This record gives sequence, C-alpha cells and structure tokens, in this order.
Amino acid sequence: MSTNGKLNRKLRMALVGGGPGAFIGRVHVTAAVLDNRASLVAGAFSSDPAKSKSVAPDYDVPVARAYGSVDEMIASERALPADQRIDFVTVATPNHTHFPIAKAALAGGFNVICDKPLTLDLAQAEELHQLAKSSGAVFAVTHNYTGYPLVRQARQMILNGELGDIQAVRAFYIQGWLRSRLEESGQKQAAWRTDPTKSGAAGCFGDIATHAYNLARYMTGLLPDKVSANLKVFEPGRALDDYGHAVIRFQNGGLGTVTASQISHGRENDLSIEIDGTLGALSWRQEEPNVMIVRRNGSPHAMYTRDPNAPFMNDMGKAACRLPSGHPEAFFEAFANVYRGAYDDMVKRASGESFSLTDTVYPNIADGVDGMNFIQQCVASSQQDGAWLSLAHPAQRR
Ligand SMILES: NC(=O)c1ccc[n+]([C@@H]2O[C@H](COP(=O)([O-])OP(=O)(O)OC[C@H]3O[C@@H](n4cnc5c(N)ncnc54)[C@H](O)[C@@H]3O)[C@@H](O)[C@H]2O)c1
Repeated sequence: MSTNGKLNRKLRMALVGGGPGAFIGRVHVTAAVLDNRASLVAGAFSSDPAKSKSVAPDYDVPVARAYGSVDEMIASERALPADQRIDFVTVATPNHTHFPIAKAALAGGFNVICDKPLTLDLAQAEELHQLAKSSGAVFAVTHNYTGYPLVRQARQMILNGELGDIQAVRAFYIQGWLRSRLEESGQKQAAWRTDPTKSGAAGCFGDIATHAYNLARYMTGLLPDKVSANLKVFEPGRALDDYGHAVIRFQNGGLGTVTASQISHGRENDLSIEIDGTLGALSWRQEEPNVMIVRRNGSPHAMYTRDPNAPFMNDMGKAACRLPSGHPEAFFEAFANVYRGAYDDMVKRASGESFSLTDTVYPNIADGVDGMNFIQQCVASSQQDGAWLSLAHPAQRR
C-alpha cells in the first residue's frame, strides 16, 4: 500500500484451468501480465491434481501453490498472510464448472475474472450475479472482443450519436472446426463443447454466438426486446447445435441478426459486425482488427486504422491502444484490456474507493447474465419453431 492509501503493488493472480493441452488458460495468463500489473502466484490448473502440480514449473508457480482442487486452493490461500494471498481468481475451465468455482472464489473474498459463457444455465448466472453484488467483489467476464481499440472507438462514436439512430446490426461468428465429429476423436475442446452436461443448453450458440451478441450489445448500447431463433445440428449424431441464427428486435425499434456457425469449411475465427445508423454505417472484423470501415452516402468510404495519436480516435479508442499505428495489436492486447479495466476496479476496491458494476468499460457479470439469458431464450425459441420470446432482462446495461 502506498502512503496515499492507494494500492500500489502488483496484484496476485490464481488461475483455474490451463492444464496440459488446454486452450484459453494460457491466454489469460499472458494477457493478465501484459501490463506488468499482476503476477501468477497460484493455481488449480487441472481437474487432475497430478497434472495441476506437473504444470507448476511451466507457469513459474511454486509446486506448493499448484493445488489439487479449487476448494484446497481457496482454503489454503485464505490461510496465508494478507500480503501473500491471491487477490483474484481467473476461471478458465469448461462451462459447467464456472458456477461452483466462481461461487467458491467469491465466498473466499476474492475478485473473479471468469470466461464465457458465465455458467451452465441462467438460474446459476442470476444467483452468481446476486452473490457478486453482495460481496462487493470485482467480477469481469472475458468477452474479450470488447477490448479491441476500434471496437471501443465504435462504441464511443455510436453513444455520441455520430452514426445517428442505430437501426440495423448484423453480427456473424463463423468457424469450421466442428465440420466433422471431432468430439469422437477425443479432442478435448470439442468433447466438452458438444456435451450438454458440460456446455449447457446450446453448443455453437453458447460457445460463440454469445460473443457476437455481446459485441453487438457493446458496440451499439442497444437494449434487446425480443428474439426469434433457429438453431440446427448439421453433423449427424451431435447433441448440440453447430449452426444457427437469431433475429433480434431492439427496444429502440432496430433489428439485429446473429449468425453463428462451427461447420463452415475453411473458416477460422471469423467474428464480424456491420452496423447501420441513420447518419452512417460501420463494419469491423476481428481477423483484421486494426481496421474499421465507416461509410456515409455521398462520401468516400473512410478506413479507420488503430492509431493512438490520430485526431480521429476518441478517448475510449486511444485508451485501449498500447503501440503506435502500424504495429499490429490483436487478441492478447484486447484480452489484456479486459484485465486492465478489472485491475483498475480491484485497486479501487482494495483502496476503499467505490466502483460500480453497472458502468464498467469491461464486460462484467451483468453482461454474463445477459449472455446466459440470450442462450436460454434462443434455445427456447428454436424449440418453438422460432417463436418470438422476450430477450429483456433486469441485469442488462447499455
Ligand atoms: N474468451 C474466449 O475467447 C474464449 C476462448 C476459448 C475458450 N473460452 C472459454 O474458456 C473456458 C475453457 O475453454 P478451453 O477451450 O480453454 O477448455 P480446455 O478444455 O482447453 O481447458 C480446460 C482446462 O480446465 C481444466 N479443468 C476442468 N475442470 C477443472 C476443475 N474443476 N479445476 C481445475 N481445472 C479444471 C482442465 O483440466 C483443462 O486444463 C470455456 O468456458 C470456454 O467457453 C473462451
């Protein structure tokens, strides 16, 4: 602690997940330390205690703090002196484990950074939301695509009215890696994502359509009213959707679509969005994230590049940059921007200052609840032949 009462030290991180062969755990750790504001000091890296210990050296964590389970980790860390114990827990495990892990972390008094989708179902998400609010802890959800500088630039432009009234949003998240029954080969990322007991009520829609929906909500600030969805299993024998689309009516009268696929040949991680307003339109694509096109009838198309020094960049866009223009920033940096915002709030919390989960720049537990509501209502609509169902939820924020 510094003399002015403000927390002035590196934050201490624990990772849950990220064991041998795992995908996103290591991304979290890389993003978490990018700005030198945190260190990984502990973890429960695998559901297998021996594997958790075995990766401790890879993460430069003492074997004694590579725990065999989350419960052991929380109890042991609680018992450490305050100047050693962790400040926050990152949850990077399959969906069905998020709820018990995040709940245990909150009960232990720790802040949480949890991957999406927030939980297995909406009821768990709502319970976690209440627990997070009453604990006063910081709770970020890694809808990491909100961290790109040009996404934040777009959000501020739209909230400032620069595109006029937003009338139409088209979000796409197109992949091809589940074109075959990869899950039958034992590939672990495919295995749990196609298993309803581990993934939740949706497959592709829970895994990636939630990102596209979140991006549309984040960039436009529009609140949803109703949804009509069609989810489909195209690979015979698969238990959960691998393709689908949802049509959304927004509360301002605008229309949106979310199309998600995991069965499109050759497509890698093609998240893209197009937004039409009465004064202009914009489009952005995460595989080329340092470029955004803004179009206005009668004017040349404007190509915005990520440039922290350019007069056309607004405060939100500039604040999300680390490098000068022309030096590409991408997935890790955007992920790190979610951490950066959460760290600012952790410092406030530890310093006794107030912060509000209703107006964070980073996606938080309210957005996690919004995502679970989206999944639940899309699945229900699809089961009722595309019936229009309510998509409004009290947790939603602009
Ligand atoms: N934000 C993103 O862009 C993004 C990208 C990929 C995955 N995800 C999300 O991250 C989560 C993990 O996905 P993944 O692809 O890395 O999965 P994965 O299967 O590659 O890795 C999961 C890891 O969690 C460990 N684990 C499982 N249960 C555990 C427990 N109880 N305690 C400790 N460790 C446990 C496993 O042993 C494994 O090491 C999922 O919720 C997924 O939706 C988010």
